[in-house]
Amino acid sequence: MIICIGAGPGDLGYLTRRGAELIGNADVVAGFDAVVNVVASLIPATAQTVLMNYRDQTAQLAMVAAAHHAGKRCVVVFMGDIHFSGFQYLERVERACGHPVETLPGISSAQILAARAKVCFDETTFITFHRRGDLSPFKRHLLHVLQDCRNAIVIPCPWDAARSFMPCHIAAYLLENGIPPEQPVEVWENLTRNEAEWRGSLSACAGQSFSDMSIMLIRTLSPMPSQIEAP
Ligand SMILES: C[S@@+](CC[C@H](N)C(=O)[O-])C[C@H]1O[C@@H](n2cnc3c(N)ncnc32)[C@H](O)[C@@H]1O
Repeated sequence: MIICIGAGPGDLGYLTRRGAELIGNADVVAGFDAVVNVVASLIPATAQTVLMNYRDQTAQLAMVAAAHHAGKRCVVVFMGDIHFSGFQYLERVERACGHPVETLPGISSAQILAARAKVCFDETTFITFHRRGDLSPFKRHLLHVLQDCRNAIVIPCPWDAARSFMPCHIAAYLLENGIPPEQPVEVWENLTRNEAEWRGSLSACAGQSFSDMSIMLIRTLSPMPSQIEAP
């Protein structure tokens, strides 16, 4: 009796109907504070809310798993869509439960960005640096994606100074590795809420700072020509 659901990019209007239904019928709703806040108005008064942060997530998820094993209907809410930059948290939920857990997709910040910036998924690669562990394979992959003339939608890493890999660091890394300084970049913040948008070149991006709630689009310099029939 446990399901992980994508809560969408921040505005409740982007939560799926199925997600709202599951929250409305839950005995326990759990998640990081900012994400539970998004769905707070849908949580039944009788339900238990389990809030967590990076430090106490293991202990809090153990509590949710115990409720699940006791037969309670538990919902764990994730930011955006679980399937982009959410799998490490999903792994924590599954570790706490001791078995695989069902997921319900949500609308990702990457989807909203694609809509705002008008890029199609077919010609775009999604990469997140917002994850634990070795980032170097993901950095290399980003280089290959851009060298292969694809767009990249990138979630930066906002953690402590030692690990932080924000748009300015990403731009500096790409420039050091031979990506052209004129490559077009967009950074969008707080999509679906207090949106802010920045557009410029890769070299200009290296000197900019953005909030934790930002997502980056690096456009290819050689977009694919149309492949539909001539008008
Ligand atoms: C752990 S990742 C989760 C991403 C999420 N699973 C998704 O599909 O959007 C969290 C990061 O996603 C980005 N993000 C999530 N929602 C956003 C929004 N509404 N606007 C801009 N960036 C967002 C931010 O970089 C944030 O720090």
